[in-house]
Amino acid sequence: MNKPVIVANWKSFKAPDEAKSWFEELIVASKIMDINFKEEIILCAPYIDLPLLNESLKFANGGLKFVLGAQNISPDEKKPLTGEITPDMINNLVVFTMVGHSERRQNLGETDEMVNKKIGLAQFHGIRTITCVSSLDQVKSIASQFPEYVDLILYEPISAIGSGKTENPSEANEFIKEIKKILPGAKVLYGGSVKGDNVKEIIQQEFIDGVAVGGASLVPSSFLDIIKNVA
Ligand code: PGA
Repeated sequence: MNKPVIVANWKSFKAPDEAKSWFEELIVASKIMDINFKEEIILCAPYIDLPLLNESLKFANGGLKFVLGAQNISPDEKKPLTGEITPDMINNLVVFTMVGHSERRQNLGETDEMVNKKIGLAQFHGIRTITCVSSLDQVKSIASQFPEYVDLILYEPISAIGSGKTENPSEANEFIKEIKKILPGAKVLYGGSVKGDNVKEIIQQEFIDGVAVGGASLVPSSFLDIIKNVA
């Protein structure tokens, strides 16, 4: 693996003032710690933080490069869908959107069909996708509609999310190997309790192209610890 991808998933944490403080703290600390990481870090923040973060990124300097991602997208557009955010509303703010996170699949009944609609619509509007899966059936569903899928797949075993226990890295590697047999063009990341002290072993695995970080991305020092260990 030559270019490890790092995704931060803030989930529904951080109001705009907290997002601003996080970013300022992170930039200062990364300079003090002299952290240089040449790859883009994908920051998936709540919609409400995106305009502010977009402005902050323009003035950021130092050894880190960020691009923004949304955490979800509407499966339809130009419909009266109260509360939804459609891709054309944010494609000037984000490069990526996550789709199909297991918290949405489990708690909000998001189906494979909806996930595929979201991928298609995001792609149509020029937004790259980080499609989250926890089973090979979910991967097969993506492949049934997008056999040439070349974006990011995020493999997150449900038991590892927010539990403090990562999946055994070599087992995750084997699973991701299977994912790549189904979607050979995709880059596949691992997510689930990634921290500074386990990230090295995870990214050293042959088939794992990077990591997604939930809880440990919320505090600048713990997120920098991960970046430092990947860099
Ligand atoms: P976690 O979350 O790092 O807190 O386990 C990962 C995710 O759900 O993306």
